[in-house]
Amino acid sequence: MNNNYTDLLSFDREHIWHPYTSMSAPLPSYLVESANGVYINLASGESLIDGMSSWWSVLHGYNHPILNAALQDQIQSMSHVMFGGLTHQPAIDLSKKLIEITPKHLDRIFLCDSGSVAVEVAIKMALQYWHSKKQSNKHKLLTVKNGYHGDTFAAMSVCDPVTGMHQIFESVLMKSYFAPAPSIMIDQQWQNDETSELEALFDEHHDEIAAFIIEPIVQGTGGMRFYHPNYIKACRTLCDKYEVLFIADEIATGLGRTGKLFACEWADISPDIMCLGKTLTGGYLSLAATLCTKDIANVISEGEANCFMHGPTYMGNPLACAVANASIDLLLSDNWQSKVSTIETQLKTELLPLVNRSIVKDTRVLGSIGVVETNQAVNVAKIQKRFVELGVWIRPFGKLIYIMPPLIINPTELTKLVNAIDLVLNDENCFI
Ligand SMILES: Cc1ncc(COP(=O)(O)O)c(C=O)c1O
Repeated sequence: MNNNYTDLLSFDREHIWHPYTSMSAPLPSYLVESANGVYINLASGESLIDGMSSWWSVLHGYNHPILNAALQDQIQSMSHVMFGGLTHQPAIDLSKKLIEITPKHLDRIFLCDSGSVAVEVAIKMALQYWHSKKQSNKHKLLTVKNGYHGDTFAAMSVCDPVTGMHQIFESVLMKSYFAPAPSIMIDQQWQNDETSELEALFDEHHDEIAAFIIEPIVQGTGGMRFYHPNYIKACRTLCDKYEVLFIADEIATGLGRTGKLFACEWADISPDIMCLGKTLTGGYLSLAATLCTKDIANVISEGEANCFMHGPTYMGNPLACAVANASIDLLLSDNWQSKVSTIETQLKTELLPLVNRSIVKDTRVLGSIGVVETNQAVNVAKIQKRFVELGVWIRPFGKLIYIMPPLIINPTELTKLVNAIDLVLNDENCFI
């Protein structure tokens, strides 16, 4: 450990915010020197197998030659130009691809910076749509508990009220309607009364509701819960019946993670608005997209403002679009379904049996996502340190230890991730 290393970490600790972390008593951060394939290499010398895909974003591994080349090629011609009054091939190519692969009728695209902004854009589209139709009374949002849609204000207003700490921001947060979280999981028997409380909210408040927003099939940060596709089918039916726009937040689930290219495909439905982000660039740069139907785009464009009221500086950034194009091409040309299903099969064999450990409440697997839900909350600093000692990068939260590795992970590496989880489950120091 050289001076430079300790200096960097102590500067970081003193001056730099990390996600959801205290400045006065921060959790430790590990200094990364490089990342390659499925490995994150620390300045302290350890190489860690990445179980997190850097929060669902890295699909094909780090430092991928094809993605690197796409960026290098693009940088030779243009890194960025404003999108107001200018356009370019990387954005056009990406939009064509997204229109082709996403559920039908989504053929108008807004390219933006991050997942949270994609959700803001989706919500603004819904509000502006009803305003343009002279139904400004439809200005509220309906969602389900246990959801997570990002950290900006409109997104926060549809995050779970408890875990999203709505009370702190009460004076400025929009008041949304919350139905109970879906309770029938993907492998359980469906019951038609599952959506009755949701329907009651639609029935009572549809005159005020602009849009219903949900993470299809997988509630991520709100519990890593895999719920029944019939729930999403019922949501589509209710949105149609009560004239409410359906926003599918596929920021985490989009582009293959669940075993379908988009989680909406589990229910064979098409939303009115869809948000994509995270792995859109294969984990290289921040880019997101909000897609909507032609009807929504036309109604907004012919309304009072004559345009959609949003336009970020880095909209459609050419570098991000170029690497997104390369990442999607790679995904589609590289037998992604069999990769996801190989990971799924191995996780079912190796991770599901951890349910027998005394501290474990439940284990579950969907596509390339594996979850161990414990009875006790983790001690993040201690469990993280233990994982690093075991040569893996896994970052649990609450009572959830979960992995969704890059699709290039090999069976030996995946076994190492699962074995590391097994070892920490037996270490009571890692739990509170
Ligand atoms: C479903 C979902 N929506 C929105 C977001 C917010 O995305 P970002 O962190 O890029 O703003 C996330 C991030 O975890 C997410 O999982």
